[in-house]
Amino acid sequence: MAKFVIQGPQRLSGQIAVSGAKNAALIAIPAALLARGATTLKRVPKINDVGVMLDIIKKLGARVEIRDSEVSIDPATLNSHSLSRELSGKVRASVLLIGPLLLRFGEASIGHPGGCAIGRRPIDQFLEGFKALGVEIEDNGEEYRFIAKRLKSASYFFPFVSVTATQSLMMTATRVPGVTILKNAASEPEVAALADYLNRCGARISGAGTSTIKIEGVEALQGSEYAMIPDRLETGMFAILAAATRSPITITQCNPEHIESLLTILRRMGARFKQGSDSIAILQAKEDYRSPGKVITHEYPGFPTDLQPPLTVLLTQARGLTLVHETIFEGRLFYVDLLNRMGANIILCDPHRALVQGPTPLRGKRIESPDIRAGIAMVIAALAAQGETVIDNIYQIERGYENIEERLRGLGAKIEKVN
Ligand code: EPZ
Repeated sequence: MAKFVIQGPQRLSGQIAVSGAKNAALIAIPAALLARGATTLKRVPKINDVGVMLDIIKKLGARVEIRDSEVSIDPATLNSHSLSRELSGKVRASVLLIGPLLLRFGEASIGHPGGCAIGRRPIDQFLEGFKALGVEIEDNGEEYRFIAKRLKSASYFFPFVSVTATQSLMMTATRVPGVTILKNAASEPEVAALADYLNRCGARISGAGTSTIKIEGVEALQGSEYAMIPDRLETGMFAILAAATRSPITITQCNPEHIESLLTILRRMGARFKQGSDSIAILQAKEDYRSPGKVITHEYPGFPTDLQPPLTVLLTQARGLTLVHETIFEGRLFYVDLLNRMGANIILCDPHRALVQGPTPLRGKRIESPDIRAGIAMVIAALAAQGETVIDNIYQIERGYENIEERLRGLGAKIEKVN
């Protein structure tokens, strides 16, 4: 198994360009199957999860051409509507294929998608939403079968916010006759970006990016172009990395507005930065970081759960006691044990709450990467720690961050990938 070997502490410097958003690309790939003609996706990050998603639609018969960060998808040759558990279990976003397959073939089936390190990841919101659109669902315990006998528009209230369930129902409703209203919808930037793409294909969506989305069904969608928005989670990770290693780093090709919640916390902690329209220059901190008191993860525009592990590393370097409240996932705080092994002083009160006492010096250790976001948090900790850190299971990190060790080396990090 490949691993990262990292020397710390390391003062970094320079400029880093942000990749296209993983969580925009993972949804754009299924969405491209809704159109009659080919779609060209641009600024697609070359990461494992995107590769797996493209393999899945190729197995279903779609034609895929990859030219560097451009991907052309032609759904005309799709010939299967059945997703085995082996395929659907590889990446959770495969559940977004149900809508497009259902609309094209009148039915679709998917093996029960599994959970992952951060939680059970149920899909009840998708099932309830599809039923509201008139979809019949059979469950034989192994796989779900969806039948689109009489699709009908609906007014659907999400019992709680779900990003991909919002995206799935929004994209499906584009081809359902009548007007569908989604309430308590997710307002993440990736939802609005998806709506913009679908409207370019001829859909009639309004309100995306707010909690109420209106979709007027149309007869057909034509292929179009879709350039991924900057990855706000990569942007936030680099900002935290710069602060944690006290490095002057300029982050480019990003959208600072998408991480306003993080920048507000960093400012309160004493980090210094200059914000441009598509860049953030992190300046070297002049003083010790202060605890922000409480960090609560929340749906957009609140503080994103995907930045919680990286920020917690910085919190170990802040003076004071911080409560980290992870409200979205039940399995996204267990990595704190790895930070404690490196010298942090974190009490895991329950699966949703941790108390971080800082500042504590971190020392290099041999650890593993439990999931995408905790994995990159370990990289940040290793670059701030004294000594050598070895991180196993880096497949998890490469699922979400394109070419990460080379890009970090470009900033002066001493990081090697060892097989
Ligand atoms: C999206 O996942 C992201 N993934 C996640 O990023 C992100 O952490 C999450 O939104 C929250 O922002 C993609 O966009 C591909 P949810 P999603 O549905 O849509 C529960 C990363 O690291 N839920 O908003 O799956 C769910 O278990 C990944 O890039 C149900 O109970 O998340 C969670 O507790 C991790 N039933 C909560 O809702 C459902 O049917 C919010 O999840 C759906 C979700």
